[in-house]
Amino acid sequence: MNPLATAPRRRAIHELPSELISQIAAGEVVERPASVVRELVDNALDAGATEISVRLLAGGVRLIAVEDNGSGIGAEDLPYAFKRHATSKISSLQDLESVSTMGFRGEALAAINSIADCAIYSRVAEHPNAYMLDGRTGELKPVARAHGTTVEVKELFYSTPARRKFLKTDATELAHCIESVRRHALARPDVGFSLWHEGKLVEQWRRCTPQASPAAALDQRLSDVLGADFIAQSISVDWRPGPAPGERPTAPNALRVWGRVGLPDAARARADQQFCYVNGRFVRDKVLTHAARNAYEDVLHGQRQPVYALFLEIDPARVDVNVHPTKIEVRFRDSREVHHAVRQAAHNALAAPRSAAAGQASAPAIGTDAAPTAATPLYRAQPAMHFEPLDGHRVSDIGQLWGKAAADLSAPESPAPEHWPLGRALAQIQGIYILAENAQGLVIVDMHAAHERILYEQLKTQWSSDPASAARLPSQPLLVPCPFAATPTEVAMAQAHADTLQALGLEISPFSPKTLAVRAVPSTLARGDAVELARSVLAELAQHDASSVVQRARDELLATMACHGAVRANRQLTVPEMNALLRQMEVTERSDQCNHGRPTWRQLSMAELDGLFLRGR
Ligand SMILES: Nc1ncnc2c1ncn2[C@@H]1O[C@H](COP(=O)(O)OP(=O)(O)OP(=O)(O)O)[C@@H](O)[C@H]1O
Ligand SMILES: [Mg+2]
Repeated sequence: MNPLATAPRRRAIHELPSELISQIAAGEVVERPASVVRELVDNALDAGATEISVRLLAGGVRLIAVEDNGSGIGAEDLPYAFKRHATSKISSLQDLESVSTMGFRGEALAAINSIADCAIYSRVAEHPNAYMLDGRTGELKPVARAHGTTVEVKELFYSTPARRKFLKTDATELAHCIESVRRHALARPDVGFSLWHEGKLVEQWRRCTPQASPAAALDQRLSDVLGADFIAQSISVDWRPGPAPGERPTAPNALRVWGRVGLPDAARARADQQFCYVNGRFVRDKVLTHAARNAYEDVLHGQRQPVYALFLEIDPARVDVNVHPTKIEVRFRDSREVHHAVRQAAHNALAAPRSAAAGQASAPAIGTDAAPTAATPLYRAQPAMHFEPLDGHRVSDIGQLWGKAAADLSAPESPAPEHWPLGRALAQIQGIYILAENAQGLVIVDMHAAHERILYEQLKTQWSSDPASAARLPSQPLLVPCPFAATPTEVAMAQAHADTLQALGLEISPFSPKTLAVRAVPSTLARGDAVELARSVLAELAQHDASSVVQRARDELLATMACHGAVRANRQLTVPEMNALLRQMEVTERSDQCNHGRPTWRQLSMAELDGLFLRGR
C-alpha cells in the first residue's frame, strides 16, 4: 500500500546541520490559506493520524485549525516545532535522498509562524498532560486534550497587509482550501477527513474500513470525493513493469502505477479532474500529465481533457522531492521510465473494448439514472475474425466472410449468440446506424465510426506486426492500374514520398505529366475506391512533412486510410454483415471510440426503454 501509511516512529525534533540546510529547496512556502492547510495536513499524516479535521474562518484568513489524532509532540520537543530547519523526519543527506514522509525540511511551521499568530496543542499518548506552545511568546503550558495535535493559525499575513491584499474573496480562498484537503483525501482513503467553515460542516469523508483492499478503498474515496459518476465513467488501472527479455524480474515494488482513468466520454473542457500522486504526494508534473494525455491520443479528440487519478509508487531514491519550495514538483531519476510506465498503464486500460465487459454495466450508457456502477473491463484476447472492408457489389463475399466468422464463433471459447456483448443485429436505420439486441436491451452502433476504428486498428497492427523487417503494410497490386487526373501538388507529392507511399502499401506513379495511376493498394483496403484513397493520402502528405514526424504521420495516414476504407453512410448492410461488424468490434482494441474520439456505440437499457414509454415494470 501507500508507503507513507506505515506507522510512524516518533523521533525528537532536532535542528539540521547547516550543510544539509543549504541543500534544501528554499523559497516561499505560504502563499495563501490553502498552503497552510496543505502543510498542516501533511504534518498530521506524517504523525500517523487516522482522523483529521480542518476548521476555517473567513476562508482560512482569520483562522485555520487542523486537529489530528496522531502521535503528538512531546513537551521536550514542542519548543523546537516553530524553529527553522528543525525536523524529526530526516537527519542526513542520505535521508534527504530517499524521503518517504510528506515533510522533511523542518520549515513549514516556522514559515507559518512568521506570518500569523500560531499555537500548538499536543499530547503524546503515553503522557498524562497535553501542552500548549504559544508561537508568539514561546510560552509552554499544560492544557487538557486527548492525544494528538491541534495547530491553530490566526490572522494570516496580519503583519504584512500588502500580502494580505493579494488574497481573493473568502469564498475563493475557501475553495482553494477545500481543493487542498481533497487532494490529500484522494491519496489516503484510510484516513477520515472533515472540513468546517464558519462552524458549518462543508465536507466529510469517512475513513474506509481497514479490511478493504486498496483498490476498493480508493474507489470508495473517489466516489465520495468526486462523485459516483467518476467511478462509473472510469476504468481501474494497475500496472507493473514486466521484465525485459533476458532480464531478471524487477523487484515487485520497484515501480507501480495504479488508480483509475476516465473513459474518453467522461473527458471535460477543463483539466480540473486530473490527480497525479508520487508515493502519496500530490504533484504537478509534466512527465506524468504528458504520459497520461498521450495514452488518450487515439481516443480523445480536440482539446478535451481526460479525467484520472493516478498513483505512482516508486523507490523514493529514484525521485527527488526536494526541487520546489512547496513540494508540488518532483524530479525523476529516469523520467523516460516513468513516462513509459504511466502511458502504458493508462493506454492498456483504455484499449480493452468495453463491449467485452457486457453485463458489467460499463457500456457507454445513455441517460444518467441507469448509471453503471462498475467498470472492470473483461477484455480477453480472442482470435480476431477477419472482417474485410465492406463492398456493396460483393455481398456474396461478405456472406462467405460471415460464414467464416460464424464458424470462428462456434469455437469453444466463443460465447454463444445470446452472450454476444453487442448483441444480435436486427436492422439498419437511415443507412447510418445498426440496431442490435443484447441482454441489457437495445444497442445502437454508428456503423461508419465503428468500422473506421476496426480498420485503423488492423492497419496499425499490420504495420507493427513485424518489427524486424522495415515497417510496411501488405500491398496488393491492381490488375488494371487506375489513372486519375492529378494536380501539380499531387504529382509532386507522389514523387517526393514514393518511399512513404510504398511503406503504406500504395504505389502511385506518373502516367502522363498531368495524370497519376494507382498500381497497388494496401490489401486491407483492396476493395475500396483506389483513386479516392490515393487522393486523400496525397493530400495528407501535402499537409504534413511525413519524415519529420514519422510516428504521428503514420497514425494520421493510417487514420485517413481507415476513414476512407470504412463503410459509407447509406450503404445497405445485410444482417450477417452487421453481425460481422459487431463481432469484430467486440475483439478490437479501443473500438468504443472512433478515431476522432466520438463514441461508436451506445446502450439503451430496458429500464431506459420503459422510461421512454412511461411503462412501470
Ligand atoms: N501534527 C503533528 N503531529 C506530530 N508532530 C508534528 C505535527 N506537526 C509538526 N510536528 C513536528 O514538528 C516538526 C516540524 O514540522 P514542520 O512542518 O515545520 O517541518 P517538517 O514537517 O519536518 O518538514 P516540512 O517543512 O517539509 O513540512 C515535524 O518534524 C514534526 O516532528
Ligand atoms: Mg511539515
